[in-house]
Amino acid sequence: MVIPVGLGKNSYDIVIERGALERASEIFDLDRKVMIVTDSGVPEKYYCRVAAGCRVSTAGIFQAGEASKTPQNFLNICTKMMREGFSRKDCVVAVGGGVAGDMAGFAAACYMRGVDFYNVPTTLLSQVDSSVGGKTAVDLDGVKNIIGAFHQPKGVIIDPDVLETLSPRQFACGAAEIIKIAACMDKELFERIERDGIVGNPNLDEIIAGAVRLKAKVVEEDEKEAGLRRVLNFGHTLGHGIEALTGLYHGECVALGMLPMCGEGVRDRIKAVLTGEHLPAGFSEGAFEPEKVIAAAMHDKKAEGDKIVTVRLEDIGSFSFEAASEEQLMKDYLEVFG
Ligand code: GLY
Repeated sequence: MVIPVGLGKNSYDIVIERGALERASEIFDLDRKVMIVTDSGVPEKYYCRVAAGCRVSTAGIFQAGEASKTPQNFLNICTKMMREGFSRKDCVVAVGGGVAGDMAGFAAACYMRGVDFYNVPTTLLSQVDSSVGGKTAVDLDGVKNIIGAFHQPKGVIIDPDVLETLSPRQFACGAAEIIKIAACMDKELFERIERDGIVGNPNLDEIIAGAVRLKAKVVEEDEKEAGLRRVLNFGHTLGHGIEALTGLYHGECVALGMLPMCGEGVRDRIKAVLTGEHLPAGFSEGAFEPEKVIAAAMHDKKAEGDKIVTVRLEDIGSFSFEAASEEQLMKDYLEVFG
């Protein structure tokens, strides 16, 4: 199935199809020089399939993990493109998770002031979230995504078959982002997840498509995050605080970060769904250093003065924005984890 993202001259299609990776050269224009950006955790066969369809390809393979999302690695990609004579007509393809996509996209946004970018997300999390919407970035001094640009891809391939090689823990992180967007925006999709689950669901493709459609709708309405797109930060404010202080994965932190932002009835439903997807719904030994979590959350680049815009959920399928002070965030956090 094809989900169009309508953004005027920056519009593109997201192809969701089992086996689509084999057809990369039909779906993308790879009849040129192609810089493939991937990481050490991505099975070689995936980027080899893309490389097989390129006229000329070169690969930039970095160490898997957020720690690789550095200005230096971004410069390494650009340097390789420059030394191999890439022109403005050539392109960059990311094959991997959010780190590969963010870094490759940022290199594509900057090299010669912008070249074409394609994305083949290979984790559930990047399929349903970061591959849609054109956010690209690298981290600086431990601050996430602080240097970046909006640069929409020219096309995205979501091949659910690649999830077969994903670890259960990484799969669960993607499930957290699906639960997040369904809880905020789509009662029907959320109820379907409550009923049938995500992991092991034979209709996983439809669940992915449901989440991608929602994300595409948000991005179409608010490409540059001036309003509605902030809904995607549901669970992320406290989640980023938790992530800065624990060894938990991003999706696990988002799962935890959603709970203090919900009314009680909704919270119980979200907790049940998270547990079903093998995601944490609490800390085993009580709250994790609340002062440090809240201080880290308030350092988020989305903070405005002494307040930060949070997304609140009183009912499944409807949300509100609320500017919260540090004290309010602490109160919310302790109510659930204290
Ligand atoms: N991942 C949040 C966004 O794309 O805005």
